[in-house]
Amino acid sequence: MISFEKEKKIFKLDTPNTSYVMSVYADMYLGNLYYGGKIDDADVCYMYRQGSEQIINEGEKSGFMNGFPFEFPTAGMVNSQETCMDIRNSRGQNGIELVYKSHEIYKGKKALKGLPASFGDNCDSIDIILTNEKLGIDVVLTYTAFNDVDIITRSVKVINNSSENINITKMLSAALTLDYQEGMKIIDLKGCWSRERHIVYENLHYGSFVNESLRGESGHQTQPFVAVATGNITQTTGEVYAMHFIYSGNFLGKIQINEQDSLRMVMGIHPDTFEWKLEPGDSFQAPEVVLNYSSEGLGKMSRNFHDFYRNHLIRSKYLHEERPVLVNNWEATYFDFTSDKLVDIAREASKRGIEMLVMDDGWFGKRNSDDGSLGDWFVNEDKIKGGLKKLSDDVHSLGLKFGIWVEPEMISPKSELYKKHPDWAMQTHHSIPVQARKQLNLDLTNPAVVDYIKTCLKDIMEQAPIEYMKWDMNKSLTDYGSEYLPADRQGEVAHRYVLALYEIQEYLVSSYPDLLLENCSSGGARFDPGMLYYSPQIWCSDDMDPVERLSIIEGTALLYPFSAIGAHVSKNTNDILGRTTNMADRAIMALLGTYGYELDITKLTDEEKEAIPDQIKTHKRVEDLVREGDYYRLESYNENHLFDAVEIVSKDKDKVMVVMMQVLCTPCIRDRRIKLQGLNPDYTYVVNGQKLHGSTLMNAGIIVPRPRGDYKATLLEIEKAY
Ligand code: GLA
Repeated sequence: MISFEKEKKIFKLDTPNTSYVMSVYADMYLGNLYYGGKIDDADVCYMYRQGSEQIINEGEKSGFMNGFPFEFPTAGMVNSQETCMDIRNSRGQNGIELVYKSHEIYKGKKALKGLPASFGDNCDSIDIILTNEKLGIDVVLTYTAFNDVDIITRSVKVINNSSENINITKMLSAALTLDYQEGMKIIDLKGCWSRERHIVYENLHYGSFVNESLRGESGHQTQPFVAVATGNITQTTGEVYAMHFIYSGNFLGKIQINEQDSLRMVMGIHPDTFEWKLEPGDSFQAPEVVLNYSSEGLGKMSRNFHDFYRNHLIRSKYLHEERPVLVNNWEATYFDFTSDKLVDIAREASKRGIEMLVMDDGWFGKRNSDDGSLGDWFVNEDKIKGGLKKLSDDVHSLGLKFGIWVEPEMISPKSELYKKHPDWAMQTHHSIPVQARKQLNLDLTNPAVVDYIKTCLKDIMEQAPIEYMKWDMNKSLTDYGSEYLPADRQGEVAHRYVLALYEIQEYLVSSYPDLLLENCSSGGARFDPGMLYYSPQIWCSDDMDPVERLSIIEGTALLYPFSAIGAHVSKNTNDILGRTTNMADRAIMALLGTYGYELDITKLTDEEKEAIPDQIKTHKRVEDLVREGDYYRLESYNENHLFDAVEIVSKDKDKVMVVMMQVLCTPCIRDRRIKLQGLNPDYTYVVNGQKLHGSTLMNAGIIVPRPRGDYKATLLEIEKAY
């Protein structure tokens, strides 16, 4: 709900348990008065702590500007806290002052042109227009308050109403100004390839904490997320303020405390690789930031995000559907396969209840290793005899669906495409392009490149019935130069790249609405809310070791629902770590995501093969709970280094599952006691054959035996008794 108090120009946005209050100060500046737990009064102007007389005192404007909690702070006006926006006018001068002009409140939410964004009917929105009349620039701040989840979203649009070009040199999407409280902590997700999104807590201190990506994607190393929490933060207690960015490119998140103990958080497109020329009459839309406040600890924050992404961001028809259990040949064969080998895998898979074969990298051009052919999206008939249609038919005749891997954003210097179009690679005239995995990025700012990619995708999709596509991206961006764009638009390359990526994925999912798309980037380097708008699931990490996955899953599930997390059962001895674990334990851990296999099923022992149907049966029994349920973290291996426990509770609180992993066994210690969360205290549940009330399970808890051995996973299923 959004209300407006006319006299003092106060805007109040309410979600079920939170309020967000702004007002127009002295008929000029838009300030943030409050964000937090729900309040009943709109007029909390005393929060400004200073009277309007200070603003009138021109001789002391600086003091006012630096102390004022600007809703959208701009450069040149403020110098002790981070700002969101800067421009360069036609005289080459920077800085911009913005004052309130008008506003409009409306039901529902508008789409953001060319960008992924949240949607919904059960919400209210407001556009607040700020202006700089001399420049002829309007800035539209758009907010949406959702009625079914404690989320507020924000985005910004700049409109050039003048007759001159201006250059936007900085355009972050949101700022929050809060009171710093002693002991506050930063919550961050850090990692690298195969070790994505590990949760890290850091202390806040005077100065700035920066979380940024300059890799052209959200990255293995970072997540477009910033959060601060009070010192007492746990899964169930403490306050947390979080910002999550619906964007897949370079981003800047910053948390800053100034000399007055004012805490500012900002989030937006990274200014280091961004500049945008705005011609008269043009507008620029910056992506959306998701604001999440919880006064019930991290658990509530996670559930807010999960519900929000499931109900207001992911569009795929598969969101609420059971996904096919797949077998992917990457770790089974790497590049060394033929269609005969794939059909052998499919044949064995079909006997065991697997539902889809996914052909990974190596089926096109002359690709037998990673040294070439990206861009040459024609079938290698030496490997895939009879082409995609024959393979797809053979797989379908075994009763399996068929999926395929692509990496459309890349060009190998060793490719037919590069011979024809060397200018299609991102490059600058003064440096040797930086290769990774012997490949370069295609210049997606060039419309001819975008058309080529769309044509290749169409060609693949129309050669054969294909039910699933894994879209990979194995090189982060370097060489931010385009042979296509003019000199005065080279600063736009990084953002235009992301816009073009969105355009191509939009083309794909709207042309083939039945296609199940899974995004991927060298494992989990582009696991962000932007990509979720196009694909209901994202490959989480190349690391399928069940112990390493514990921290990856904990970090990923901090923000994302399990329905979005790609999870496979891989080999006994993990190819990356060399750690050996049992297939049964890995199969339990892979329940926490979209379930599949990634190994050579033909090479398993008879015992392992025979266990697969039961593993799939277990997955099918709990998959709707995993897909739709509420997540509670009971124990964290990331913190205790011994043991992990994840609980999922159905929305009606009838069904519960707990996935546990004992990483290391220790002698002479009692069985573990675990207190469940999120149950109905009055319901009676059946736990291991015994009837117990929800109140007992949550307060007294349950005792779980300690298994003998390391890396032991256990699944506990609990149901309401009738
Ligand atoms: C990336 C993906 C893997 C696999 C390879 C293929 O690393 O994360 O799953 O598809 O590319 O080259």
